[in-house]
Amino acid sequence: MPGNDIYAPAFVKGVFDRCSGRYIAFSYVCSLGFTERWRRQCVAAMPEPGAAAPTGYDLMAGTGEVWPHLLARFPATRRIVAVDISSGMHRLALDRLHAHRAHRIDFIEDDVLASALESDSADFVLSTFGLKTFDAAQQARLAALMAHVLKPGGSFSLIEASDPKGWWLRPLYLFHLRIVLPLVERLLLNGARDFAMIGTYSMNFGDAAGMADLLRAEGMEVSFRRYFFGCATGVIGRKPLVPAEPGGLSAAP
Ligand SMILES: C[S@@+](CC[C@H](N)C(=O)[O-])C[C@H]1O[C@@H](n2cnc3c(N)ncnc32)[C@H](O)[C@@H]1O
Repeated sequence: MPGNDIYAPAFVKGVFDRCSGRYIAFSYVCSLGFTERWRRQCVAAMPEPGAAAPTGYDLMAGTGEVWPHLLARFPATRRIVAVDISSGMHRLALDRLHAHRAHRIDFIEDDVLASALESDSADFVLSTFGLKTFDAAQQARLAALMAHVLKPGGSFSLIEASDPKGWWLRPLYLFHLRIVLPLVERLLLNGARDFAMIGTYSMNFGDAAGMADLLRAEGMEVSFRRYFFGCATGVIGRKPLVPAEPGGLSAAP
């Protein structure tokens, strides 16, 4: 039943529609400002897109928090196509759409895995904190979609909050996710539990190593990245100019 499947698109949409009004403040405060730093690092880590005036996708764009970083690093960006399933996040993004940037941003309100994005349509693909609400099968579909939309030579960078396995402060981090975050939410947001769901998705996600393998299987050149002791992880890379030989060597992790 979709109501019980926390990875069903309708369920995820509901969580983010209900969170949207307070998402920016809550994610900033509860991550102690790390989300903003990680967005910047995610953009900084992306290999140069092939084009002088690149066009690309911000997948699971939310309220467009990453756009200032992207446009600061690549001022000549021609167009960002933002894709998000949540009407609430979408509305907020449009409201805050930083009017001076509006002409460079298109918005598709849709389940990214059901969308009909054109092949070879992107010089880059970026996604910040958009992986955790996909299970393994959905991540495989996302990897295939990225391979489909990227132009040969196009680049990508994805980042997601992760489980910092092996870090000595991991218990503190998990305490923050499992206890502090839901408590703050219950106290400050009238007993709501939606942000706690974001904590659940993050814990279930593990890290981006699986996504790195899935992208390699799609023929992408991929590097796996850890940010701040693995509290966030990501993948960066490129679609090769010449398709990789089936069974040939791929980039080392
Ligand atoms: C944690 S927010 C991240 C938003 C933003 N990228 C940021 O840096 O804060 C995850 C976003 O993914 C969107 N999302 C989740 N599943 C999706 C799907 N199947 N298709 C499109 N968007 C999706 C949610 O609506 C939400 O806005």
